[in-house]
Amino acid sequence: MGFKSLCFGFSCVLFAYFVYLPIPENIEEPWKVRFMDALIKVTSLVATLLENIGIVKYEEVFSTLATVHFTKPISDENITVIDKNFRDIPVRLYLPKRKSERQRPAIFFIHGGVFVFGSCKMAGYDDINRWTANKLDAVIVGIDYRLAPQYQFPAALEDCVLVIKFFLQDKVLAEYGIDQTRICIVGESSGGTLTALVTQLLQNDPEFKDRIKAQVLIYPVLQSVDTFLPSHREYEHGPILFRKMAIKLASLYVSEDTALFQAALRNEHMPEGSRHLFKLVNWSDFLPEKYKKNHVYTEPILGNLNVSYPALVDTRLSPLIVNDSQLQNLPLTYILTCEHDFIRDDGLIYVTRLRNVGVRVTHDHIEEGIHGALAFTRAPVFLHLGLRMRDNYVSWLEENLYINGTCH
Ligand SMILES: *[C@@H]1O[C@H](CO)[C@@H](O)[C@H](O)[C@H]1NC(C)=O
Ligand SMILES: *[C@@H]1O[C@H](CO)[C@@H](O)[C@H](O)[C@H]1NC(C)=O
Ligand SMILES: *[C@@H]1O[C@H](CO)[C@@H](O)[C@H](O)[C@H]1NC(C)=O
Ligand SMILES: *[C@@H]1O[C@H](CO)[C@@H](O)[C@H](O)[C@H]1NC(C)=O
Repeated sequence: MGFKSLCFGFSCVLFAYFVYLPIPENIEEPWKVRFMDALIKVTSLVATLLENIGIVKYEEVFSTLATVHFTKPISDENITVIDKNFRDIPVRLYLPKRKSERQRPAIFFIHGGVFVFGSCKMAGYDDINRWTANKLDAVIVGIDYRLAPQYQFPAALEDCVLVIKFFLQDKVLAEYGIDQTRICIVGESSGGTLTALVTQLLQNDPEFKDRIKAQVLIYPVLQSVDTFLPSHREYEHGPILFRKMAIKLASLYVSEDTALFQAALRNEHMPEGSRHLFKLVNWSDFLPEKYKKNHVYTEPILGNLNVSYPALVDTRLSPLIVNDSQLQNLPLTYILTCEHDFIRDDGLIYVTRLRNVGVRVTHDHIEEGIHGALAFTRAPVFLHLGLRMRDNYVSWLEENLYINGTCH
């Protein structure tokens, strides 16, 4: 009891401190953002403390908190919601109830959570997917891929690929009344990583080439080669996503060894022999001038980790480290980036690289945007920004699935 009160008191003091830290001026609903940012920072510090005294692991604090927001599959007047397994992987389906003369589009939804927490069953995502299914008269498949550190690279990707390939079988498409010319994938944050990877894998697989009509990447993480891009420097302390937490959690997808986390923090995690990858993520070449500001390009330092992690040079971890020949056939792409986001530049670099090889890209940059807002669309953490992001990508989908889309 004494320990709990101490912890609580300690958290309150920290919270009071963090909540008054300055945030960028143009952020809307600043007190809500401050509140959430402070909450995340306190959680991170308390989690570090608990981990150090051996009570619970850092990431377990985050994954436990996320489960509080899980919802049951509850159908409403418009949408039937069902939890199922496809190839033993849990999925949540949103099936429009209204009668339709034509076949429906299908949208796969891949949630974020730095590969270690979260679920498409969380209230914010559940609302969005239900709303989207109704608005677009589309079938939505939320994928609950396995999480790290229990299941490490490439488990999350394998699960997404399995579910999507399963669903793309003729008999499954027929069962759900899907128009196979209108299939897209949507993912946010680390779900954006998985979306970009699945899209690349399918597009470069002769059996699945051209099966995906469009990909939607919402503030995606797209590389783990260089952790010192301008946005990593400018938003080291957040808001919402900050350097220590992001790198600590993300490194668990590759290894629980804290040496990897420590090396990645210093941008010294890449192995000898991987220098040829730098040019593929070189922000000095790919960022528009206005984002370079006065930053000076420095190369990541090689060979400071004496354990070798093949995942770090694997194109199934970082969508940005493939060469142009693997990017040029990618389908129609929508990328949303936020100005005040630690991983902003990953998305900006992908926009440039895709456009350089002629992929049709719609880029939506939100000047007052912050990372993670799409998940904050349900009380008590409700941000209007999250709904605006939803409206932006859903209208893009509507336009490209129906108006500009082919109809069969
Ligand atoms: C059902 O759809 C109608 C028309 O789009 C909408 O006005 C109504 O709010 C929807 N109901 C729910 C529970 O979302
Ligand atoms: C990165 O880009 C800059 C500017 O184009 C260039 O000077 C530098 O050599 C590049 N470095 C690597 C490793 O690609
Ligand atoms: C890594 O190298 C350092 C110094 O060379 C050594 O002390 C340490 O034990 C090594 N760690 C592993 C995991 O090999
Ligand atoms: C692109 O990558 C593929 C596979 O990694 C490789 O075989 C090919 O030579 C590369 N092409 C160029 C132009 O570097």
